[in-house]
Amino acid sequence: SEYLLSKKDFMNKKVLVTAGPTIEKIDPVRFLSNRSSGRMGYELAIEFANRGADVTLISGPTNLEPPTTINKIVRIESAEELRQKVLEHFEDSDIIIMTAAVSDLRIKNYSEQKLKKDKIVNLEMEKNPDIIKELGKRKRDGQILVGFAAETENLKENAMKKLKEKNMDMIILNDVSRKDVGFEKEENEVTIFTSKEEHRLEKNHKRIIAGNICDVIFSTFF
Ligand code: CTP
Ligand code: CA
Repeated sequence: SEYLLSKKDFMNKKVLVTAGPTIEKIDPVRFLSNRSSGRMGYELAIEFANRGADVTLISGPTNLEPPTTINKIVRIESAEELRQKVLEHFEDSDIIIMTAAVSDLRIKNYSEQKLKKDKIVNLEMEKNPDIIKELGKRKRDGQILVGFAAETENLKENAMKKLKEKNMDMIILNDVSRKDVGFEKEENEVTIFTSKEEHRLEKNHKRIIAGNICDVIFSTFF
């Protein structure tokens, strides 16, 4: 509606959104990655921009069109690249939203030559840095850190644990065992937690969910 389009409640706010998967290269033809279309993050970035925010979108590889209303779009591939770009923009951001599906593992040694298939069974891997956890440690007063949790069981318990351990201000829980919402789907259904509150958003198109998430962020922190 016209009312929604003219609602500039995030005017003068700087918002950093990460979206999409990361990919960790193994050799010139193979990589390790996570499921993520990037859609939820793109919709959030678009919604914040519509509401007047100065948005930076840091995106892993996706098939999505770059939103025309966002002029700061940064492309990354690996988690380490994502980390560098996030740290570059972090200080300057009021709200940081990590929707990116960060690959938990990376390959210890990238091979310039294509590996023969019998050599890739026992690849050495290591954990990627936890980017949002690092942000949680550096966060200053007034900065709002929002994370996502992709869970299949013990949903609330796991989400609350992440909220606390990563020093987030808000976490958005996705039940990724569901077939009708989430990955590669147009619709989503999420529950938002702060340390004190819980908001269940009913199933809806990701664009509407993005609007609902912005509303909850606004009413909680501003
Ligand atoms: N995240 C991150 N850096 C990582 C892994 C995750 O910043 N290396 C962020 C994600 O962007 C998300 C939140 O942490 O906002 C939770 O991601 P999730 O994969 O659910 O949590 P993990 O801590 O990786 O735990 P696990 O995958 O074991 O459940
Ligand atoms: Ca993970």
